[in-house]
Amino acid sequence: MTPDILDILKSQNDILSGEALSDRLGVSRVTVWKHIRKLREYGYAIESSSKGYILKNGVDVIAPWEFPGWEDRIHYYPEVDSTMDVARKAARKGCPSYTVVAAGRQLKGRGRLDRSWASTDGGLYFTVTVRPELAPMLGYRVNFCASLALAKTLRDRFDVPAMVKWPNDILVGEKKLVGLLSEMETRSDMISFVNIGIGINVNNDPTSVAPEATSLGRITGMPVARKAVLSGFLDIFRSRMEKDDLSTIIDEWKDYTLTIGRHVRVETVRDVFEGKAVDVDEGGALILAMRGGRTQRVIHGDCFHS
Ligand code: BTN
Repeated sequence: MTPDILDILKSQNDILSGEALSDRLGVSRVTVWKHIRKLREYGYAIESSSKGYILKNGVDVIAPWEFPGWEDRIHYYPEVDSTMDVARKAARKGCPSYTVVAAGRQLKGRGRLDRSWASTDGGLYFTVTVRPELAPMLGYRVNFCASLALAKTLRDRFDVPAMVKWPNDILVGEKKLVGLLSEMETRSDMISFVNIGIGINVNNDPTSVAPEATSLGRITGMPVARKAVLSGFLDIFRSRMEKDDLSTIIDEWKDYTLTIGRHVRVETVRDVFEGKAVDVDEGGALILAMRGGRTQRVIHGDCFHS
């Protein structure tokens, strides 16, 4: 019903009365009003007056019916604490692979190493659940697949020269555009689910809290549709995930990384390592050549290029 009202409003350039809408749909005016309210919650700009309703913009709305073929997988919330929490509950209840929990804004958006992730209106914040048939020790491949899929989406569909920074950030011109956070749960020595949380600065301005960050709007000089970013990512990510067991994903990822060859500082919860990044091994770990000729393998942490 909600998409039906939307289709009628989209096809109409003029104000449409509540009566005309209720006649066309065979429902009461109160029902029409309830669906209009729901559409507004999704972000559609529907103006109402004594004469009726008009849809004002072409709009960038993340509603299930805006993602043909994915309708049953997209769940949108105007505001949540964190999409990671909502997605974890859904995954524990058995939601299917490629279920997406997206939010207009987050009150407690989380980043890696217990940091917060500023999540104001205009950005794209979502968590996608996958259930790969991989041993838990290979779960890291999903994270590399996700960051690679996103870099390819930005390059192929938006002409943005996105690069990946170990482990999973996306940078453009050395500035951070995307952050990725993952959570995994296992059962009987198999992965039960991997939840990949992605925050993309799209039309929001992250620079007041993160001066080293950038946004798609800044890079392209125009507003960018969040729904086009999400649908592009989902197509590329799913098709790569379903191709094989991701055994070559690190090599594919390396073609897009800025990290190898750079002098870096890696902060983990306990340590700080500095050295030249010489490789990312089969296990996704960063290999550092340290002063004195020693080699250090780092499996997780936050990496700063210098
Ligand atoms: C990082 O760079 O530290 C990772 C940031 C991940 C942010 C995303 S936004 C959607 C999802 N929900 C969260 O609370 N965090 C992730």
